[in-house]
Amino acid sequence: MSFAKISGTGIYIPDKILSNKDLEALVDTSDEWIKARTGISERRILDKDKATSDMCYEACVQALKNSHTDPKEIDGIIVGTVTPDYMTPSVACLLQDRLDTRKIFAFDLSAGCAGFIYCLNVAKALIENGQAKKLLVVGSENLSKITDYKDRGTCILFGDGAGAVVLEESDEPGILSVCLGASGKEAELLYTPGGGSKDPNGYRFLKMEGKEVFKEAVKVIQSNSLEAIESANLNPNDIDLFIPHQANMRIIEAARERLDLPLEKCYVNIERYGNTSSASVLLALHEALNESKIKKGDNILFSVFGAGFAWGSAVIKW
Ligand code: ACO
Repeated sequence: MSFAKISGTGIYIPDKILSNKDLEALVDTSDEWIKARTGISERRILDKDKATSDMCYEACVQALKNSHTDPKEIDGIIVGTVTPDYMTPSVACLLQDRLDTRKIFAFDLSAGCAGFIYCLNVAKALIENGQAKKLLVVGSENLSKITDYKDRGTCILFGDGAGAVVLEESDEPGILSVCLGASGKEAELLYTPGGGSKDPNGYRFLKMEGKEVFKEAVKVIQSNSLEAIESANLNPNDIDLFIPHQANMRIIEAARERLDLPLEKCYVNIERYGNTSSASVLLALHEALNESKIKKGDNILFSVFGAGFAWGSAVIKW
C-alpha cells in the first residue's frame, strides 16, 4: 500500500485590507472590542470583479511550483468551498481548464470551514487505494460576497483567501489520520439561507448564532483533535505544531489549553486574515512553513469546526 503526503503548498491573499478601523465606519463596533473578542485586526477582501476560482488558480500555480509538479502530472482536482463562482459548474472544473491539466476528474466539496479537511480525506483515500498519484487539494473562500456588512455579529470575522496543496503518493506515511464528523441538527445556527434550491428571493448573506457556535466549537475541536491524535497512534505531547481553524482567538486558546499544548506549539495568523473558512488552515500551514516553524518529521495537527455543523481533524507527518 502506498501513502499520501503533501509535497508543496501555495496560497493567494487579496491585496485589499479591511481593518477594524474601517469596520468602525460600517457598524457599531470598535477596534478594541474586535481584537479582545476575536483576536482579529484586519482581513483581506477580493476585488468585486474577481471570484473564488481566480484565487484558487494563483494558489495552485504556487503549490505546483513548490512541489516541482507539472500540471500535466495531476490526476484530479478537489476544491473545498462554500463560495463557488457558480452554483454549477464547480470551481474545480474551471481550474482544470485554467491550469491546462489533462482532462482529469475535478469536483467541489461543501463542508463549511471543514472543507479542506474533508477534501484531504477523499484525496488521501484515492491515493492510498491507487486511483491517483498526484492530486491538487484546494480550500478557497470569497466570504466577503456573502457577508452582510450591516451585521456586526458576522462582518467582523470573515475574510477572503485561498490555499492549495499537491498531495502525492509516497513510500512513507504523510497523512497519519483524518477524523471527520457532522451534526445537521444545528444547520441553522450558521448558514446561508439564500442561493440554494429553496431560495425564494436570492437572499444570500451568511447568518450565525455566534455564542452557540462558539461553545460547540471549543468542545468539538478538543474531542475531535484527541480522536485524530489517537487514531495516528500518538499522544498530545507528540504534536509539534497545532494548526487550528482560525475562527476566533478565544476558541483557539480554549482548545489549546484543553489539549494541554504549549503556546509555542500553536500557529496563529488570525490577526491578519480573520476567518477564511476552508482556506484557513492552508494559509496557516503555508506561512508556518515559510517561517521555518515546521521541520521534516514533525507531527502537525489540523482541527476545524464550522457550518453544518461539520468538523474534521487530521494529523500529518511532515
Ligand atoms: N462590536 C461590538 N459589540 C458587539 C459586536 C461587535 N462587533 N458583536 C456583538 N456585540 C455585543 C453584543 O450585542 C452583546 O452586547 P450585550 O451584552 O449588550 O447584549 C455583547 O457584545 C456580547 O455579544 P456576544 O454575541 O455574546 O459576543 P461573543 O463574545 O459571543 O462574540 C463572536 C461574538 C465574536 C461572533 C463569537 O461568538 C464567535 O466568534 N463565535 C464563533 C464564530 C465561529 O467560530 N464560527 C465558526 C466557523 S465560521 C464558518 O463555518 C463559515
